[in-house]
Amino acid sequence: MKKPNMNEARKRHNNSEVKYTSYSVNTTKFGKGKKYYVRTYGCQMNEHDSEKIVGMLESVGYKKSEDIESSDIVILNTCAIRENAHDKVFGFLGVLKHIKDTTNPNLLVGICGCMAQEEVVVNEILKKYRYVDFVCGTHNLDNLLNIIESKIQTNNQTIEVLSYEGDIVENIPVVRESKYSAWVDIIYGCDKFCTYCIVPYTRGSQRSRKKEDIIDEVKKLKESGYKEITLLGQNVNAYGKDIYDDYNLANLLKDVSATGIDRVRFVTSHPWDFTEEMVDVIAENDNIMPYIHLPLQSGSNRILKLMNRRYTKEDYLKLYDSIRSKVKNSSITTDIIVGFPGESEEDFEETLDVVNKCKFDGAFTFAFSPRENTPAALMKETVSEEVKMDRLHRLNEVVNKYSNEANKKMNNKIVKCLVTSLSDKDKNKVCGYTENMKLVNIEGDKSLIGKIVNVKITDTKSFSLDGIYVK
Ligand code: SAH
Ligand code: SF4
Ligand code: F3S
Repeated sequence: MKKPNMNEARKRHNNSEVKYTSYSVNTTKFGKGKKYYVRTYGCQMNEHDSEKIVGMLESVGYKKSEDIESSDIVILNTCAIRENAHDKVFGFLGVLKHIKDTTNPNLLVGICGCMAQEEVVVNEILKKYRYVDFVCGTHNLDNLLNIIESKIQTNNQTIEVLSYEGDIVENIPVVRESKYSAWVDIIYGCDKFCTYCIVPYTRGSQRSRKKEDIIDEVKKLKESGYKEITLLGQNVNAYGKDIYDDYNLANLLKDVSATGIDRVRFVTSHPWDFTEEMVDVIAENDNIMPYIHLPLQSGSNRILKLMNRRYTKEDYLKLYDSIRSKVKNSSITTDIIVGFPGESEEDFEETLDVVNKCKFDGAFTFAFSPRENTPAALMKETVSEEVKMDRLHRLNEVVNKYSNEANKKMNNKIVKCLVTSLSDKDKNKVCGYTENMKLVNIEGDKSLIGKIVNVKITDTKSFSLDGIYVK
């Protein structure tokens, strides 16, 4: 058994220790005739990790199941970012226990993802959740099949979580959810240590993939028909810093754009690492999409400092204005936390001030949630739940007003959409995304799926647009 250790996870190991290897797990086809069910929580990186989990399971014969009752294995790919992410997973474990106790006693239950990296979680699983069959951390995901096989052979609860970064493993089998839009990892981990955030502990230090491996992956995706790729990292703007002297995200964006793939996207950007050179590259290349997710977190310089965000309100606004002025038809979204320890009404008003100045296309807003072992969790909480909720509510009103306004500006325009699937709302329609990442429900035939087509916007809502296909 290998358990996580948060103190070890805090340490930053010498980058030269990072090894680049290729997936080499070789097991029997022990999943033949069996079915899997994978449930994903959290961010895009986790969504992509789930595609690897599915890839590995299918490589040994497992087939997808639509429901848990008829599954042989259920894997929860978990997120630790806020307490409610935890609660959801523990709630679902209760459901799985009931299924194991009644209709499906042989069901294997496994936990992967960021919660697996948390000491408190693993201790709790050892104490109270003995029916969880295996736990596999984020740094050794490539070893998942060995962990499952070992569980099956020994029938012991199997826990394997490393508190130091594993190798960067290329060529892990992957089964992608979409045939048109693909995730591509470019940098793992994060070294920013924002004081509220657990990611630097659960994902380890910043480690970039080699540029050749990334470009090669994009070329292959293009050859197999993909129209869009999204470069992934907790802080993509730090790309290359750990392994190259003079190759950064601006260079990578240029090289990826040069592959000729129709659409290039990237998430998430940290304002501190966002250079003017990067803004210029985004502005100059038509296949780099004009959509930027630029987390603000707070508009108060005092709180930004306590958060260790490394920029001021003024720095943020300067970068924001530069993107808006250089990148045509850009859309910019953000993340904001309210109720950070010490946040006063004046601090909160500074946040509202930035929102009023930026008029974001959209924002994900959160109430501060203390995460075990992070510096902010040791700060005295000064904002009551009631005040947090009140600020969240007030913030959301302003945020929604601006996202509505931004959407309204799209009305009657003809825009390009990558049609990705049938519409969730109306199965007689299809849906897709504009270049600036607005979801559109489109009157049009399902033969449009997988194509980039012109759509005339006919109506706008808070979170989506309506449109009609035009030739
Ligand atoms: N890497 C990204 C964010 C990843 S987490 C960045 O640097 O911006 C996604 C969002 O969750 C964060 O932007 C933040 O707004 C929110 N978040 C992270 N930790 C949180 C916490 N402890 N409480 C509340 N929100 C949190
Ligand atoms: Fe967390 Fe900050 Fe890193 Fe984003 S940049 S993942 S918020 S520590
Ligand atoms: Fe959650 Fe881990 Fe992503 S904590 S947001 S799944 S990196």
